[in-house]
Amino acid sequence: MARLKNKYAGNGFFGVGILNNANDFNVGTLWRSAYVLGASFLFTVIRKYEPQGSDVTHAWTKVPLYHYGSVGDLKAHLPHSTQLIGVEMAAGALPLARFEHPLRAVYLLGNEKRGLDEHHLEHCAKVVQLPGTFSLNVAVAGSIVMYDRVSKMETAPRS
Ligand SMILES: C[S@@+](CC[C@H](N)C(=O)[O-])C[C@H]1O[C@@H](n2cnc3c(N)ncnc32)[C@H](O)[C@@H]1O
Repeated sequence: MARLKNKYAGNGFFGVGILNNANDFNVGTLWRSAYVLGASFLFTVIRKYEPQGSDVTHAWTKVPLYHYGSVGDLKAHLPHSTQLIGVEMAAGALPLARFEHPLRAVYLLGNEKRGLDEHHLEHCAKVVQLPGTFSLNVAVAGSIVMYDRVSKMETAPRS
């Protein structure tokens, strides 16, 4: 039995996506980071992705890209035993530096103008926040969160 456990040990997986993005260039940049840093899937909520130039990796040709009609729809279709993690500057959000990433996580980023509001955040198991008093670009924020996960969990990105 111990041998089987060793053989099948792993660091789980993660997916990343954005709610109703305003700028396809940002999403392409996010997909590029997600692919390089080892995301298992990508998703959009409300607004669908239009392939364009900033994703030079064409990530959606290599990992599944899903679409959901709402955050509730996303939550209803999470992989088994997987936590939805909101990424937002919000009251009560956990600082990223001290955040322990769940083995199986789905990271949700907000719209560039409106972010994630309370209604969206209540679907999340946890909310994580980066340092600073002014928001970062959404693709930058998502890339930092994924890098933080990879660093802490020693997940091997694709070679
Ligand atoms: C440009 S921000 C949204 C703008 C924000 N609602 C505002 O009023 O300034 C877009 C998204 O990037 C992510 N984001 C940017 N800065 C962040 C930070 N410091 N901590 C966590 N998420 C951040 C969040 O997902 C946010 O919804």
